[in-house]
Amino acid sequence: MKNLAVAGTGYVGLVTGVCMAENGHNVTCVDIDEQKVQTMREGISPIYESGLEELMQKNIEAGRLHFTTDYQAAYKNAETVFIGVGTPEREDGSADLSFIATVARQVAESIEQDCLVVVKSTVPVGTNDKVEQFIRDFLIKDVRVEVASNPEFLAQGSAVKDTLEADRIVIGTESEWAEKVLTEVYTPFNLPIVSVNRRSAEMIKYAANDFLALKISYMNDIANLCELVGADIQDVAKGMSYDERIGSKFLNAGIGYGGSCFPKDTKALEYIAKQNGYELKTVKAAIDINNEQKLALYNKASKRLITFNGLKIAVLGLTFKPGTDDLREAPSLENIPLLLKDGADIYAFDPVGDKNFAKVYPEGKQENGSITYVTSPEQALQDANVCFIFTEWGEIKAVTPTQYKDLMRTPLVYDGRNLHNIMEMDMNGVEYHSIGRQL
Ligand code: UGA
Repeated sequence: MKNLAVAGTGYVGLVTGVCMAENGHNVTCVDIDEQKVQTMREGISPIYESGLEELMQKNIEAGRLHFTTDYQAAYKNAETVFIGVGTPEREDGSADLSFIATVARQVAESIEQDCLVVVKSTVPVGTNDKVEQFIRDFLIKDVRVEVASNPEFLAQGSAVKDTLEADRIVIGTESEWAEKVLTEVYTPFNLPIVSVNRRSAEMIKYAANDFLALKISYMNDIANLCELVGADIQDVAKGMSYDERIGSKFLNAGIGYGGSCFPKDTKALEYIAKQNGYELKTVKAAIDINNEQKLALYNKASKRLITFNGLKIAVLGLTFKPGTDDLREAPSLENIPLLLKDGADIYAFDPVGDKNFAKVYPEGKQENGSITYVTSPEQALQDANVCFIFTEWGEIKAVTPTQYKDLMRTPLVYDGRNLHNIMEMDMNGVEYHSIGRQL
């Protein structure tokens, strides 16, 4: 058992802290927001993530998990400090490292014993060298401090499982001491450990995320071609998936990838390449395809209809994927403003994302149209002229062709997630448009 501190209680920080406690470590999570800290002390998670609250409560009760705003107290005696703060995207695509710098300085000014600082946040290659130097510059005690890179591979919606049952733990260190300390922290997890140097660890994170983004964009590219040549992307994906070299995951064509990671990390790696005088053509292609893909359905529908003005539009799904209330880079955020500008009256359903969406687009008149939030797909579909599907929530998958036909004024459905059977929709009199498929 080790004394650990975790800086930042967003997705990465909080899940790391909770899973470390679950594996027997004594963990203190640090955040600057007093109110958020108070809520977490009561075992309430600030993020919607399956299974997280249960583990929080269990480990708080066991006395292994603590929350504080007092960073000095938390870092003072920590053998390892994990940094899990955000690295948001700047306008030029580069990563904003100011949160990391703040924590690094706080760590330097607090630690009173040898300490391994572990950066879990996704940072440009070479950043951890700088963080280490930065901490050493501001150290107030004569102690040993080193920085290790330990990128996070969890996905929102399955974050706890992804952490406790990760495919691998990547640790990037520059000394035997750092490698030993971090290996010991992860020993109770009983997972494969890939031990590399710091820069390779930083690169693994970007290369892995961008490969997945590329895989999705590739499938979207092929899907668009499938539509032109009369092939079916789902059959194509199925046929590809049996090849173990390709695998069955991340072959779903759709309305483009969103979230806080792929859009940011593709742009960041492209930027890193550019800074080094290199053009990363594959990743650039993934970005371009994704930008176009987000509006694929809107463009299709625009061609089919003269105008959206005065039409009742059912929107099913607002979040960038199911299992989260996160809207970052969600296709809904690209499409809904255009529909509102065109004068559409939108009836939106999302089981958890509606509250966040309403913060950006409050219910009522918006632009030339309006938006209303409803609590079931059926309510959204009632008397609608058009339906757009943006997220594959279970409740939305469960809507039947008959329901579209019976509830909608004109059963015209644009499905960005390929949820329904084309034949069934057609046989039930629904005009159904999806991605990379046709009758
Ligand atoms: C992603 C990675 O999957 C994690 O491994 C990584 O740790 C994380 O980023 C991160 O860097 O923090 P996440 O963004 O939470 O996780 O979600 P994903 O499940 O990867 O989905 C991302 C987007 O891709 C979603 O919009 C999803 O709809 C889309 N997607 C996914 C597709 O369009 N098609 C697919 O086949 C799979």
